[in-house]
Amino acid sequence: MTTNTYDDIKESIAPELARLHEAIHHTLKSSSNPLLNTVVESYLQSKGKLIRPILVILTARLFGDVSDKVIASASAVEMLHNASLIHDDVVDESKMRRGAPTINAVWDNHIAVLVGDFFEAGALSQAVSTGDIRIVDSLTCLGRILSLGELDQIYNARGHTLSEEAYFKIINQKTASLFVSCVEIGAYAVGIAIDDPRLMAMRRYAELLGLCFQIRDDIFDYFPAETSTIGKPTANDIREGKVTLPLLYALTSEDAPDPDYHQMMRQAAMADDQPDEDMIEALYAYARQRGGIDYAYTTMEHLHSEATTVLSAAFGADNEALAPFHSIFRFIIDRRK
Ligand code: IPE
Ligand code: IPE
Ligand code: MG
Ligand code: MG
Repeated sequence: MTTNTYDDIKESIAPELARLHEAIHHTLKSSSNPLLNTVVESYLQSKGKLIRPILVILTARLFGDVSDKVIASASAVEMLHNASLIHDDVVDESKMRRGAPTINAVWDNHIAVLVGDFFEAGALSQAVSTGDIRIVDSLTCLGRILSLGELDQIYNARGHTLSEEAYFKIINQKTASLFVSCVEIGAYAVGIAIDDPRLMAMRRYAELLGLCFQIRDDIFDYFPAETSTIGKPTANDIREGKVTLPLLYALTSEDAPDPDYHQMMRQAAMADDQPDEDMIEALYAYARQRGGIDYAYTTMEHLHSEATTVLSAAFGADNEALAPFHSIFRFIIDRRK
């Protein structure tokens, strides 16, 4: 089977991506408020990886032609994603995103919340423009699930829940759900039925991809030396009480060589007060030493192999049309930002 780099994939849909940028600019630019226009313009200058709209476009291409309806849908998911990032940076008090200062850092939280709302409204208007109630429905349900995921995360952090099941539920809601919507919307936009078995397989693929996406993102937090490549702050999660998979594994594994130190690490991670900088480094070092990073990579490989099995069962093994989806999975696990 052909394997492509992420750049090859982007290159293969370059005209569609140009249409996507045009749709996003058209929706968000030239409002009646000069401040809003300035903020939007500077925000749109640093683009992300565009993984979600790319998934919409590739899914549409798998099942049909990339019509204007597909582009409107892809622009809707990218704007919804950006709305959630703009709001997330307020919630996480984060100062850097995509290598540039966040809206809350340059202006303030008030502006960031309102600009995030503006992106969200843009997403819904693009979804409505498709005239397809299934696309609107998928996106509005998603808005609910994303906020639930973020709220569960805060609730668990405050309650100091150390459970892998709770972790997977959160990352499913806050991240994988959007990936599932991307393939649904891409398929609906080219007329695929809700219960088409190939779409069922694509949904599961997207869920597994989304879970890996968040696990990989969570690993970034453990490597402060790479902050400038990643383009956003590291060592932030534990500061906010979020125990992600590598540390969760270290804190819940039962064969700790030094039980007293293990207990101290557990208490530090579960304390109500924010750990100080030395303790944050100690916790991350403990996660790395106890094999938490390796465990997270092994988990991703299991999810990856399930995704390969699901796609092969629905579309046939080595089906060339699926090549970009396999390549994207590899990219998500191996990426450096
Ligand atoms: C970051 O998403 C938020 C998470 C779900 C971890 P991306 O890493 O896809 O952000 P951009 O759009 O590429 O910047
Ligand atoms: C939040 O996860 C992702 C959203 C669904 C908005 P993170 O808080 O880990 O995302 P980053 O690391 O800030 O991009
Ligand atoms: Mg964040
Ligand atoms: Mg993160």
